[in-house]
Amino acid sequence: MKVLVAEKIAQEGIDILKNANLIVDVQLNLPREKLLEIIKDYDAIIVRSVTKINEEFYEKAQKLKVVGRAGTGVDNIEMEGATKRGIIVVNTPEANNVSAAEHTIGLLLSSIRYITQGNKRIKGGNWDRSGLKGIELQGKTLGIVGLGRIGSLVATRLQAFGMKVIAYDPYITDARFKKFGVEKKETLEDLVRESDIITVHTPKTEETFGMIGEEQFKIAKKGLRVVNCARGGIINEEALAKAIKEGIVASAGIDVLVDEPKCNSPLIELENVVNTPHLGADTEEAQYNVGTMVAHEVVSALKGEMVPNAVNLPTLQITELNDLKAYLKLGETLGKLYHQLEKDPVERIEIQYRGEIADKETTAVTLSVLKGLFETILKERVNYVNASLIAKNRGVEVTESKITGEGKYMNLIKLLISSKDKTYTCSGTVFGKDEIRIVEVNGYEFDVMPSPYMLVAINLDKPGMIGQIGTLLGVNKINIATMQVSRKKNTEWAMMFLAVDSEVCKESLELINNMEGILSAQFVKL
Ligand code: NAD
Ligand code: MLT
Repeated sequence: MKVLVAEKIAQEGIDILKNANLIVDVQLNLPREKLLEIIKDYDAIIVRSVTKINEEFYEKAQKLKVVGRAGTGVDNIEMEGATKRGIIVVNTPEANNVSAAEHTIGLLLSSIRYITQGNKRIKGGNWDRSGLKGIELQGKTLGIVGLGRIGSLVATRLQAFGMKVIAYDPYITDARFKKFGVEKKETLEDLVRESDIITVHTPKTEETFGMIGEEQFKIAKKGLRVVNCARGGIINEEALAKAIKEGIVASAGIDVLVDEPKCNSPLIELENVVNTPHLGADTEEAQYNVGTMVAHEVVSALKGEMVPNAVNLPTLQITELNDLKAYLKLGETLGKLYHQLEKDPVERIEIQYRGEIADKETTAVTLSVLKGLFETILKERVNYVNASLIAKNRGVEVTESKITGEGKYMNLIKLLISSKDKTYTCSGTVFGKDEIRIVEVNGYEFDVMPSPYMLVAINLDKPGMIGQIGTLLGVNKINIATMQVSRKKNTEWAMMFLAVDSEVCKESLELINNMEGILSAQFVKL
């Protein structure tokens, strides 16, 4: 598979991609037309914040499976278009937050102490301190808009400077404010009125774009200082330029612009604004973290695995993902069984979680069941991203239920798949750390370790049935690895699972199906 690295990432990240046997093309700063022309050949693309991944792009990117965003913000990536095409978008939110927080503080100190202006004067041979009198941070009030990953790092660091920290973030719990010793402000207006310094750390959304603008500067303290190391436009550039010229805002530190990478903002020409060209994440550490993390994620996503930090999938931390790995495999295996054993169209699927798994976040496991269910019958690409959309489009009702209380197994996933006039069931469990087992199919109990090739048959519960299948497979040079037979009360039929070392061809399967006493025999790939 081919990966296009369209913006610079650390060499270590590129090595990870190459070591995973991917063909890696590093083509930085491609003109848009060229990018749109060549993207049809790639399975994955890695970008930072400059490349716009939008509908026009997706239309050309016919083979694309993964967009790797080497960084946090995904405002340059249209998510809906990706999700409907089953394209996984991954980012690296934890990897550069310390660097961004430190750059925020750098911009703040630099702007309130006129460090860049002083530097410029002295390099020009001018030992002149006039007009460069700064302020101290100690005792001042810092207003943080958005107390997420970076906002909270800025809070704790600036508390060490003796600042009082207040924040406005309507989407987090009071406990989070408490955890960081930050005073909660119910409204943005309250925050603006009380702050000596405002720093923004929200994503760029319709709600946050321009949230600090003319209205806010009208009620701000005279001499306010501002920092934007989040996204261009969260602080309106024209309004800020005006407020600086009017003396309402005394200084600003700005890392990001609305129209990046163009240098056409009215802020650039103002003496008391310190600008940097989106350097928040440009440290050796952050770039190493971001580059290696995005590379690992792209490799996993191309393998069809569930990925931490996939933006259009349920949010999973790496520890949660490790915890769920065996259940994801089990869910997918159980899902894959259905269409290989039954032919009736699915109308409804209930996924029951019992025991230990019932206490975990199971959304991703449900997706894995749906992925398994549909990938055996659909030609279109099915993955974690589009599995629930496919279910919805096919009119399949999906429900999850959690059953508490003791059962036969420490954990159990049971599928109840209903078609027009019957309900098929199958169940599985995880033993130990990662040993998965199919333990029930349509009421027949087993302890089957899934294997890539399996023969599943329903036969009369009488002597000689296993022997005749074994003989036929032997004649056809198909080795049987393991075998399990199960019977159930009040029926003359038994069910068997045979793990075989190679594929069972159509002709052999037909011969087995025509054997006396065999109700059905199917070859199943898991
Ligand atoms: P995050 O998701 O951890 O935190 C964002 C916070 O903003 C959340 O707590 C959320 O509740 C809050 N929020 C959302 N809408 C809000 C609103 N209308 N009002 C108030 N709060 C709101 O994100 P993060 O990782 O801390 O990143 C913050 C910003 O920094 C993002 O825009 C990201 O793209 C940017 N960033 C920039 C650089 C850089 O190089 N300059 C580097 C990394 C991240
Ligand atoms: C981010 O969102 O991670 C930053 O803007 C940094 C970057 O894009 O490199």
